[in-house]
Amino acid sequence: MNVVVGITGGIAAYKAVGVVRALVLAGHEVHVVPTEAALRFVGRPTLEAISRNPVHVDLYEGVAEVRHVAIGQAADLIVIAPATANTIAKLANGLADDLLGNTVLASEAPLVIAPAMHTEMWRNPATQANVSTLAERGVTIVGPAVGQLTGADSGPGRMEEPEVIVRAALAAVGGRAEDSAGRRDAAQGDLAGRRIVVSAGGTREPLDPVRFLGNRSSGKQGVAIAEAARARGAEVTLVAANLEIGEPGGCDIRRVSTALELREAMQTAAAGADAVIMAAAVADYRPAAISEAKIKKEPGDAGLTLELVRNPDILAELGHAPHDGTLLVGFAAETENDPERLLALARAKREAKGADLLVVNRVGWTEGFASDENRVSVIGAGGVVVAELHGSKLSVADGILDVIAEALTDHPASEDTHAR
Ligand code: C5P
Repeated sequence: MNVVVGITGGIAAYKAVGVVRALVLAGHEVHVVPTEAALRFVGRPTLEAISRNPVHVDLYEGVAEVRHVAIGQAADLIVIAPATANTIAKLANGLADDLLGNTVLASEAPLVIAPAMHTEMWRNPATQANVSTLAERGVTIVGPAVGQLTGADSGPGRMEEPEVIVRAALAAVGGRAEDSAGRRDAAQGDLAGRRIVVSAGGTREPLDPVRFLGNRSSGKQGVAIAEAARARGAEVTLVAANLEIGEPGGCDIRRVSTALELREAMQTAAAGADAVIMAAAVADYRPAAISEAKIKKEPGDAGLTLELVRNPDILAELGHAPHDGTLLVGFAAETENDPERLLALARAKREAKGADLLVVNRVGWTEGFASDENRVSVIGAGGVVVAELHGSKLSVADGILDVIAEALTDHPASEDTHAR
């Protein structure tokens, strides 16, 4: 396949070398089109050596061979990584003041962009409007990932890892369908047309105006699933309970705090969804009464006894209510050390809650929660282990979505589901 990799001027340009390399190693013919600004971050000789092709930047070079349209016309896929806020704005408006802009306009190939910028720039309404415009036109947006940025700050804005970008880019070509007239659809991922609801984070149960009972879930795995599902074309609702990390872009976010709020949000969002993924850590109990005033210690008292009542099990409620056409995915975080007993707990949980898939991981004082890595097993029908995944939470998210995408292949897309 003939792939154009556009590189624009951001620090993440150095990571674009990884994108070029992965595409070359996968057997593709790669032509790199950097902007002038990109060459301040990564050198042309590096790009020529890695892509094994000459690298052109200048619109007014090669005029005789009409290079400004030739590169775009020959492309089967265009990937822009990193895509700065400025480039995204130019793409949204169809500007063609450099070779990359001309290449994109002169091409009918799927376009995949990997935004990278500071969180404030990503959240800026202008950027969000431009991203929405591109998404509506069928452009695949990969990321941005949530995490440490160039400075001391962190949040959504980091360019997605090269392997994730390449995967989404190749899926965008694979997901292209031809209509009856032989025209191709807009670029789509393998979850395009699917509506996916993800819960993430940990609930907090207030005791009084200043205290709560909570848990150590950071929300990283659930947010990674939401991000990855969106990158693969799904319409994503993220029910976010007290996230300790930034919210991903491009998802419909419903913020909740307590288990009862999460339950209401999930019940509303789950209706008619293709998949519901309960990655949130939900408190099993809440205080029987919430004190209106701050609870005070009394002189000489030996302790405080709290009365707790059970919270509803949201996943089990969804699992035991009619949910035709909606795949239910639960999570289990267990401190069990023995791998067989861990799987046995997960199998029992899957059955008891009426989930289709159950993702189980071991947690401990130092494992699981705030980490960027995860190791999980996915249990399917009959208690069979359908996937063993480990690596970054994003790669684990993609592995879980592979299982979900496979399970959904027999289901019509959600528009059809509503009509059934
Ligand atoms: O029973 P346990 O808490 O281990 O179950 C974990 C799974 O059930 C997770 O998917 C979690 O989101 C969900 N859950 C729930 N409501 C609760 C407790 C857990 O939906 N009250």
